[in-house]
Amino acid sequence: METRILKINSPGDTENINAVAAVLKRGGVAAIPTETVYGLAANAFDTAAVENIFIAKGRPQDNPLIVHIAEFEALGELVREIPDSARKLAKEFWPGPLTMILPKSEKVPLAVTAGLDTVAVRMPSHPIAAAIIRASGLPLAAPSANLSGKPSPTNAKYVIEDLNGRVDAIADGGDCSAGVESTVISLAGGIPRILRPGVITVEQLRSVLGEVEIDKAVLAQPAKDERVISPGMKYKHYAPKAKITIINSSLERYIEYLNENGSPDTAALCFDGEERLMPIKSVTYGGADDSLGQAHRLFDALRELDEIGAQTAFARCPSSEGVGLAVYNRLLRAAAFRVVYLFDE
Ligand code: TXA
Ligand code: MG
Repeated sequence: METRILKINSPGDTENINAVAAVLKRGGVAAIPTETVYGLAANAFDTAAVENIFIAKGRPQDNPLIVHIAEFEALGELVREIPDSARKLAKEFWPGPLTMILPKSEKVPLAVTAGLDTVAVRMPSHPIAAAIIRASGLPLAAPSANLSGKPSPTNAKYVIEDLNGRVDAIADGGDCSAGVESTVISLAGGIPRILRPGVITVEQLRSVLGEVEIDKAVLAQPAKDERVISPGMKYKHYAPKAKITIINSSLERYIEYLNENGSPDTAALCFDGEERLMPIKSVTYGGADDSLGQAHRLFDALRELDEIGAQTAFARCPSSEGVGLAVYNRLLRAAAFRVVYLFDE
């Protein structure tokens, strides 16, 4: 299939925005920028179009998609009812990187929700995403626009790398600001529960809702036969080719570890400014005390590890406070939960 690559610099680029919207209206699949990562979009009400997203990504059939809207009013036809908690969160965080799980309406096809009776909805704040949704007049089902199992793309060049020839169009809107996917919270019953951390933090959600739980899959590896409420969390995810291990230690012990375990095929995934201290080749992923900067850089850095041909990578361990929880959650999955703890003597 020939993929049209459409450069869009601003929501005022109506010609290319309308071209992407036209692809979506006729049941095509198009990658679009959002403030988190690029999404691979199709008409959420069109089962065949949604099935083509799964084919293009090689996505497992049991992993549901997020539906993207541009106005709060569009939520009504997607869900059975809008609880107070959803109204409060929307008021505070929409448009923005927050996805809410709610009981789905009849109108949402089971292809979108992978057979679940709940649907994930978010309203992106990226002006180009909003313009494309409005121009199409549709709610757009969209997972991240990577091949399944690869790091989510934070720039159109990675979408092109993964999906050129597999989708109808790619809208190139430059870099994504957040760099990790949205925070996912379930409001589908019981105490609100965070299924995936993001740049909207647990603390921010608690300040609006009071009690909020963090699903144990956020930091723990689910057992093979365990039922997980967010199916996406059970897959090894975000992984580059390099085998990653997280090293939880001081900088000094980390450097010792690299001296003992490094080789020409090995790379260090370290914080900004530390690269000059590394005894082996390195890739940086933000400042040691800058969780937002780490989130912005992490997926790019994972792809860079492949570009420099690393077979094995040892990663500095991020903080898991605030936005750091999202960074640690993604890095843990990229590392298939391998963590080495080294304590100072
Ligand atoms: O920032 C984002 O959320 C990006 C951009 C494109 O919006 N999208 C994204 O989609 O990350 P995806 O498909 O890569 O991740 C969606 C996550 C998965 O972990 C999936 O299992 C979960 O949301 N999810 C979707 N619907 C769900 C549902 N009904 N119940 C529980 N989890 C759900
Ligand atoms: Mg994804």
